[in-house]
Formats: sequence, C-alpha cells, structure tokens
Amino acid sequence: DISRTAEHAGVPVYLIGGIVRDLFLERPNEDIDIVVEGSGIDFANHLQADYGGSVKIHENFGTATWHHPSKLSIDVTSARVEYYDRPASLPDVELSTLNEDLYRRDFTINSMALCLNPDIFGDLVDPFKGQSDLRSKTIKVLHNLSFIEDPTRILRAVRFETRFNFLMDKQTESLALNSMARMKDLSAHRIVEEMKRMFKDEKPPETIRRLFELQFWQQFGADDDIREESFVHASRMDMVYDRHPHFQSNKISWFDYFVIPFYHSGKSHLAKTFALTRQNNKFLQDIRDLTEIDGWEKTEGVGDFHRFLKDFTDDAILFFISKEHFENEDIIVSYVEKRHDIPPILTGEDLIQQGLKPGRQFREILMELDVAVLNGEIKTKEAALEWLDKYR
Ligand code: CTP
Repeated sequence: DISRTAEHAGVPVYLIGGIVRDLFLERPNEDIDIVVEGSGIDFANHLQADYGGSVKIHENFGTATWHHPSKLSIDVTSARVEYYDRPASLPDVELSTLNEDLYRRDFTINSMALCLNPDIFGDLVDPFKGQSDLRSKTIKVLHNLSFIEDPTRILRAVRFETRFNFLMDKQTESLALNSMARMKDLSAHRIVEEMKRMFKDEKPPETIRRLFELQFWQQFGADDDIREESFVHASRMDMVYDRHPHFQSNKISWFDYFVIPFYHSGKSHLAKTFALTRQNNKFLQDIRDLTEIDGWEKTEGVGDFHRFLKDFTDDAILFFISKEHFENEDIIVSYVEKRHDIPPILTGEDLIQQGLKPGRQFREILMELDVAVLNGEIKTKEAALEWLDKYR
C-alpha cells in the first residue's frame, strides 16, 4: 500500500534499518522506518490522504510519524541531502543520498534499504554488504570511528550478538574494547536506556558475561574475576523465576541483573549512580539488608520467614535466593506466593473491641497473627481471639 502512495507521490521510498534486517532474519518487528528521497512530511501527508489515520510532524528533524487507524505506525524520514542542489542529470543521485543516510548507521546489518516503489519493488540497497554479514552472522561497524561517535553502539552490538547468536568481527571487537573507556563519558540515563533494552532481550546471563569480556563492568568498578559467579547468579535467577510461576507475574527488572556484578564485587553502592527510581533504590537497600540480617535463612516455617522478610520486595528475595544454591528455596517461594493474600482474620477494630490499647503494639500483634495464619496454626476468627489472650 505504501507502494501505491510512493508511485503517485512520485518519489523513491525505501524501507530502512532494523526492519530490513529482521525481514531477512524472518523475525517480527513492528518498528517500520521508511526513508523518502524527498520530503518525509509530504509523504506522511500523502499516506494520510490515501489511508486515513493521523500524522505527527517533527519539524526540526524533517520527519513525521503516520499513525494508521489500526495501531500500526510508520516513521517517515527524509534522506537529508537536498538533492535539488545537485545537477538533475546525475543518474544515481537518489541512490547516493540514500547511501549517506545508510552511512550514518551503526552496523552493516542495519544499513540496508529495500525499495518500495512498484517498478523496482524489493530492490535491495546494500552498499556495506550487510546481507553477506547476516549470512555469516557478523556484527560489523561501517567505519573505525563508529564507537567513538557513539559508545552506546557497543551495547547495541552486544545486544544483537546475544539476540541473534551473532559475533562481532575481529576489527569491530577490538574497536569496542578500545572505546570502552568512553562509556564513562555517557550520562547514567543513556546507559540505563540501553541496559533496559539489553536485559529485556533474551539471555541476560550471556549478556552479563559478554560485557565482562569487553570490560564494561570494570569501567564502573566491578572486579574482573567474578565473571563466572555473575553469570551463574543471573542464570539461577532465571531458573528460579522459571520454576515458580508466582514470580512470572512480574518480569525480572533490568536493574536486578545490572546489580549482579557490583554485588559480587562487594560494591553494590557503585550501582547507585544508575538507580534512577525509588524502586531501584529500595532494591539496593533490600539486598544489602538481606545480606546483613542474620539467621533468617535457617528459619523453617513458611510463616516464620514472614518475620524477617515481610518488608522486602519479591525482586530482592528472588535475587538473594539465587545467589547460590539455596536449600530453602521452595519454602521461601511458597512464602512469597502466600504473603500477598493472607486472609485478614482480625482487624485493628477487632483489637480495640477486645479491649486492647491502640498503638505500636498493634502492628506487632497483627504481624504475629499473620505468621500464625501462614503457618496454618490459626484458621478462624474464634481461634484468633483465643490466641489473642496472651496479649491482654
Ligand atoms: N542506529 C544507529 N546508532 C544508534 C542507534 C540506532 O545507527 N546508536 C540506527 C540503526 O541503523 C538502527 C536504526 O537506527 O537500525 C533504528 O534504531 P533502533 O530502533 O534503536 O534499533 P533497531 O535496529 O530497530 O533494533 P531493535 O530491533 O532492538 O529495535
């Protein structure tokens, strides 16, 4: 359909970047990027005229996003060279402007374009041999300054390596190592954005290990000799998570993986720079406290864990019980499952009616009641009232 609009708008239009790569890899991708050899904004308006939907214009960039009524959206960019400045007789004028757009990109496999105009539909523009790198499963930068210009590309390279089972070629890998020190120049925010994407992808343990090889963690103060430990911790975290459906209602946060290398270096505080939310900070605090409080790991009843763990998040508990083989894993998981719906057998109101004085003690009593309920010792209100006698 874009094809028809391209024809009557009379401009060359290409599908470009990640979506072309994923078409060849036969992987789903909903980010449709197209490049127009002309005005991207005009073309988005053409799409709207032909198929409805709405257009959002990003004037400063000369780009636009067309939202189709059925959720689909397409980003439209202009190939940025003003080709009307060039002699009209130049035969490959369009191709060369497109090449410049492609040349600004990160890797050969992301630097291909597919023509959408009906007369040459499906023609591949592949000046950097991306298709051959796709076949040989290789991540390769377009030029030697790529990682210097943008160190986040190193993280992107690792992400594509693990996601597709590809590898950087020798040259790219050595450029990555040489530029890694520049990672520290980036804002925490930019690194966090990349980390979120990395740890949302498949295989976080592999990602962690690969980032050790490339000296990423070491830039930020993690020790070099804890690669395997970190890898194992992350793998266990995935395993425990997979084994226990309860955890699956909440995806493991990127931050939980991110903290592992710092934790094993005994330097969790160094992850603080990247703790951008209250949740992240609470997580750091929790895993520190869990490491410090004594004795809880040996506790036995489901309810008894409650005394120690009630204020800790599921995430922190999952992190902690995955750090090494944990004998009580099943009991703790069953505690975590149950604690979210402990039946409220008595309320504060009931305690007052029983003649107890409101105050700090209430919290204590209700907590002990939860412990007894979790342990299966108290099931009814009568039993609870009887149990309450000892507090009177
Ligand atoms: N790009 C780049 N350098 C970056 C980020 C992006 O050159 N630092 C280019 C790549 O060509 C990429 C395109 O911009 O294909 C779109 O970027 P993005 O949507 O982030 O990546 P995708 O390749 O689509 O990856 P994903 O599938 O993870 O979204």
